Amino acid sequence: MSVRYIESKKTFLLQTKNSTYQMKVSDYGYLLHLYYGERLEDEDLSYLIQLQDRGFSPNPNEAGNDRTFSLDFLPQEFSSDGSCDYRLSSIEVKNGDGSYAFVGKAAKHEIYAGKYSLEGLPSLWAADQDRVDTLEIWLTDPATQLTAVLCYSVFEEKDIITRAVKVINESEETIYLNRIMSMTMDFMDSDYDFIHFDGRHTMEREWSRNPLAYGIQNVGSFRGASSHQHNPFAILCERGASEDDGRCYGFSFVYSGNFMCKVEKDQYDQTRIVMGIHPKHFSYQLKPGERFTAPEVVLAYSGKGLTHLTHLYHRVYRENLCKSPYVRKERPILINSWEAAYFDFDEAKLLEIAKEAVDMGVELFVLDDGWFGNRNDDNAALGDWDVNTAKLPRGLGGLSEDIHEMGLNFGLWIEPEMVSENSELYRKHPDWCLQMPRRQPSRGRYQLVLDLSREDVRDYIVTSINSVLDSARIEYVKWDMNRFITDAWSAIVEKEKQGEIYHRYILGLYDIMNRIILTHPEILFCGCSGGGGRFDPGMLYYQPQIWCSDNTDAVCRLKIQYGTTFVYPVSAMESHVSVCPNHQTGRTVPLETRGITAMDGILGYELDSTKLTEEEKRICRQQVEAYKRNYPLIVYGDYYRLTNPYTFSEYVAWEHVSRNRDEALISLVLTEKEANDAQRYVKAKGLNPQMQYQVDGMEGSLSGQALMSAGLPVPGKLMQYEAVQYHIKAL
Ligand code: GLA
Repeated sequence: MSVRYIESKKTFLLQTKNSTYQMKVSDYGYLLHLYYGERLEDEDLSYLIQLQDRGFSPNPNEAGNDRTFSLDFLPQEFSSDGSCDYRLSSIEVKNGDGSYAFVGKAAKHEIYAGKYSLEGLPSLWAADQDRVDTLEIWLTDPATQLTAVLCYSVFEEKDIITRAVKVINESEETIYLNRIMSMTMDFMDSDYDFIHFDGRHTMEREWSRNPLAYGIQNVGSFRGASSHQHNPFAILCERGASEDDGRCYGFSFVYSGNFMCKVEKDQYDQTRIVMGIHPKHFSYQLKPGERFTAPEVVLAYSGKGLTHLTHLYHRVYRENLCKSPYVRKERPILINSWEAAYFDFDEAKLLEIAKEAVDMGVELFVLDDGWFGNRNDDNAALGDWDVNTAKLPRGLGGLSEDIHEMGLNFGLWIEPEMVSENSELYRKHPDWCLQMPRRQPSRGRYQLVLDLSREDVRDYIVTSINSVLDSARIEYVKWDMNRFITDAWSAIVEKEKQGEIYHRYILGLYDIMNRIILTHPEILFCGCSGGGGRFDPGMLYYQPQIWCSDNTDAVCRLKIQYGTTFVYPVSAMESHVSVCPNHQTGRTVPLETRGITAMDGILGYELDSTKLTEEEKRICRQQVEAYKRNYPLIVYGDYYRLTNPYTFSEYVAWEHVSRNRDEALISLVLTEKEANDAQRYVKAKGLNPQMQYQVDGMEGSLSGQALMSAGLPVPGKLMQYEAVQYHIKAL
């Protein structure tokens, strides 16, 4: 078993192929963290706990005269609150007597084969070939009988450990859970960099790396969605760690709502990192016998740098996260109507775009926003999911049939979580949106957010969307969400429970996705929230791909996709070729470069195909053919970031290498050009040093060692924003 309890030492041992996680029940019943890192065999690491009398660090009462035991400096698995630990707390509760304290002692544990499950929440699952074992440890506060059950599942072969927490109120009184972190991890040192992924609408997941400093660093979202601003993923790595070397720890939160990740460097140069639901405006009522389930954090450890950490996440997120059968299918190449026509279309125009797209090799036509109600701009009709017959007189069915006759599949945009004030739905049910008493709700893109904590609202959404999906032949759906939450208050929830609304919204979202997406396994769903405002593993559980960003500028995409690849696989990133000058930046970039950049994801087009020249269509057709030829390599291969666009400005390069290392594709975009500039080289990674390879377009062969150590020349004739691909094949 990959999980063991060693009774004589009171230690718990979690073993993956290349990592070890160890913890210990201490003298007074506290659960201490001993180690997470490089795999060790059966060693007892209890000696790492060094007790000392430290001034102003209080001692628990049961320690009696022992002044050397303090939770203020001991490494813990789940930190207590309101007692001896002044560092970041894992939990905050208000007890029935009005006190704010939780002090958990190890009460019992259970070890079993298989993965734990989290009610109502997405989480990783074990596939047939996976060996997964689980440990659950009950930490009970003897004073209140409140229990936090710490859950750990070990994916042994995949080097992944998942964590989650269930809080059970076993007392006779009502308590309020005001904060619950799904994961707390203590390190006995602090020489780490904190890497996180920040951004904004149209510039998501920007890489940010800073050394830890004394005090607390904080990223998170309380926008009601995981957000464009911060992604629920963070890395702690050794100060010198690079793509190829160094200890790195990843923390990825499987949740689509408010989240928080905080790192603290304490007075003794130790580190604590916590990750969980953002505690702002969070207060969950637990009556006697009730429980709360906190979402999952997926942990990975790499002793070999950031690239290996990426490979661990890519593999597990490709194989153990998404429930859609499409996750294993080749995704169709689509054309989307948004940047082609926005709201300004009729049936004839759509059919023309589709007809030209057939010529480009496209396989799926996606009708974006504007097809329903009186939706002629973004001011109206969300919630009214009836086709706009002025634009589409033969309904979705007629359009879809014609599209299919051309040999294309048909896809549709929806935004089920929203309502426009100018809609039949709002006029009928004004109380169905989130809004607070005595205040008018804030608008975002002229729209309000439906109260997904309400069952009647969810039933309406499920019925109306399912009937749209059943009204025509639809093979793809883009599920959008175009504003964040404000006014988080529900008309049917008692006032003591209003602090639950943000979380209940997300539970409601997962419920409707269970009832719409999982009941339509034949449809490929793509996530979207103004591009990448909800690009997280919670959404990837339902939808195998997500629209990466509303920014289709290929040069901006280099950074957006760079940041995204640290944790999310290529198969999750939908990327489109659009026209130039680009609609978001005004920049002009060659069509070839736009294609190469979009191929670093699930390739698609987002342009008016009727306006392309014959030559442009030929280039697109070539792109489609190249992408389809290289699909297994791009989507299932190992991913290598060859440059960091934040620290190196001349070119951006990345590489896909087949799992057996007999094939690779390097893509390079020249981002900075000077006249008569230096000769540059790009070095491959991940090849077999002993193997001989043929590089497409070059005479003779080269060893993997030469390609990785000496590299390949970047053509001197390449102009700014031009791109090149090197296709490398073993002889
Ligand atoms: C969002 C999406 C876009 C497009 C529009 C339609 O902004 O990210 O791709 O679908 O909505 O309104």
